[in-house]
Amino acid sequence: MIPILNVENLTLAYGDKEVITGLNFQVNQGDFLVVVGENGVGKTTMVRALLGQLKPRQGQIKMPSSVKIGYVPQFRNLDSEYPLSIRDFVALNLPTSRLPWLSRDERQKIDQIVAATDLTRIAERPLGMASGGEKQRAYLAQALVADPQLLILDESTASLDNEMKYELLDLVEDFRSKGRAVLFVTHDWDLAHHYGTRYLHLAAGRATSGPISELSAIEEEE
Ligand SMILES: Nc1ncnc2c1ncn2[C@@H]1O[C@H](COP(=O)(O)OP(=O)(O)OP(=O)(O)O)[C@@H](O)[C@H]1O
Ligand SMILES: [Mg+2]
Repeated sequence: MIPILNVENLTLAYGDKEVITGLNFQVNQGDFLVVVGENGVGKTTMVRALLGQLKPRQGQIKMPSSVKIGYVPQFRNLDSEYPLSIRDFVALNLPTSRLPWLSRDERQKIDQIVAATDLTRIAERPLGMASGGEKQRAYLAQALVADPQLLILDESTASLDNEMKYELLDLVEDFRSKGRAVLFVTHDWDLAHHYGTRYLHLAAGRATSGPISELSAIEEEE
């Protein structure tokens, strides 16, 4: 198993308020880790720490230096005036993006990812005009264009209808199956069971993790 992420004895706090205490878990290549837990338990806080936006109070987040993280945020309603085309929005996250002077390789890569996320037909339209599902696919495409080894989704499907959720996660699953890893924060048990290979359950005072087959027991507890 090739490790992507190793979290050791991680404690996270805002001021005096400890949100996560002594958390341990691992993500390996090929894992689809679903992160579950009640509202306010610290899932987004943990994601912020993994992205380097919040300094641990204690403990460590270990990642090989070659590992890049892609991030798909929870759906935010972009202004309908948002001017960039979907294509340009995706291109913004190229490692050396110089809009509009992209190289031929870069253009090809954008084409390929835009096609894989089923956005070709509307790629020249302003992102602000896209539907919720299309915006989420554009965020996913933008994250994927930087070739991350680990993709983090924080409730990225929450605002989508059922069919769209599965469509988006099928794309994520396709990415995972090519030797990457996924960390998916969700309140949706059906999605967790359908796509997860492992789970991490955050709960006040104690966290557990294990193979997805053990998730049902957690679900009954909650
Ligand atoms: N910037 C902040 N400053 C102080 N407290 C915060 C801050 N951000 C979050 N919190 C608090 O930390 C706790 C954990 O919040 P967090 O957003 O990580 O929960 P969550 O598990 O993602 O919840 P949800 O399922 O509702 O998204 C909450 O009590 C929240 O109020
Ligand atoms: Mg959250």
